[in-house]
Amino acid sequence: METFFSDIPKAELHIHIEGSLEPELMFEIADRNKIKLPFNSVEEAKKAYNFENLQSFLDIYYAGANVLRHEADFYQLTWNYLQKAVSQNVLHTEIFFDPQTHTDRGIPFEIVINGIRRALEDGKEKLGISSKLILCFLRHLSAESAMATLQSALPYKNAIAAVGLDSSELGNPPSKFQTVFDKAREEGFLTVAHAGEEGTAEYIWEAIELLKVSRIDHGVRCIQDPNLVKYLAVEQIPLTVCPLSNVKLRVFNSMAEHNLKQLLDLGLCVTVNSDDPAYFGGYIAENFIASKTALNLDKKDIYQLAKNSFLASFLSLEEKQHFIENLDSFMLSYSRY
Ligand code: ADE
Ligand code: ZN
Repeated sequence: METFFSDIPKAELHIHIEGSLEPELMFEIADRNKIKLPFNSVEEAKKAYNFENLQSFLDIYYAGANVLRHEADFYQLTWNYLQKAVSQNVLHTEIFFDPQTHTDRGIPFEIVINGIRRALEDGKEKLGISSKLILCFLRHLSAESAMATLQSALPYKNAIAAVGLDSSELGNPPSKFQTVFDKAREEGFLTVAHAGEEGTAEYIWEAIELLKVSRIDHGVRCIQDPNLVKYLAVEQIPLTVCPLSNVKLRVFNSMAEHNLKQLLDLGLCVTVNSDDPAYFGGYIAENFIASKTALNLDKKDIYQLAKNSFLASFLSLEEKQHFIENLDSFMLSYSRY
């Protein structure tokens, strides 16, 4: 079963590059940059990856990101993720990065984006993986700070497909960022937003109506509002669902209680993603395996999830078609499953 989930062609649409910082790499970069970590060893770090909720995770995630100082650090982080993604047959990936996590520590925006961008270019050339970049605003910071970040991003417009919204959801509704998102769309960026991870269905409505998002990140709490579920199904607004993350951050008590299968059965365009794989116990294939095992997903479900990952991407129609043909021929050849 494991090889099927590694081999099936897929796209990943919800991965925070800072969340792919494996503890081994964190220690390697900390040594190189002479930075003291809040952990004494890789084992101690892994033991600390036990979270009560989103905020308790974010505190550790931002502490980890503090080791990233130089362009080479951002390059190495991104390159390592791309290698892992390719090993799980991710053909296309749409990667979030959080510039404010770094600019607030005095790291220039261009150091961050140049390191990531160079790795993405090498990923295309040397590994054959297609990618897009999504700039996320930290919603616990002010709208003014988000606007300043958007201004810093304008010279790099060609390298950034969309803007998004992440970090502490509760108390920081999408409406706080309406003006920034208006400006981002005016400048030609697509938009996405984390909504309905810990927040209510109302946050999802706001993301759709005020921020005009193309898709919702997480969105699992849409289930609170039958009208919203109907709307998401009719409009086929994709949800980038992250099953292992949701269990680790206690959005659901266990994988068996996750609503991925329910949302799929309701006709929503749901996808499976890893969110912060270094912290949540697995990359995209492990998310598929955990979901399949706990929720009894059948071959049709798995095919639909993989197909949705391409349909929900920011690729062109032709590119989507090409990748879906690739998926279809894989399914035909893989009769053992
Ligand atoms: N930043 C990194 N992972 C996140 C998540 N799951 N929710 C909100 N912000 C995040
Ligand atoms: Zn996320």
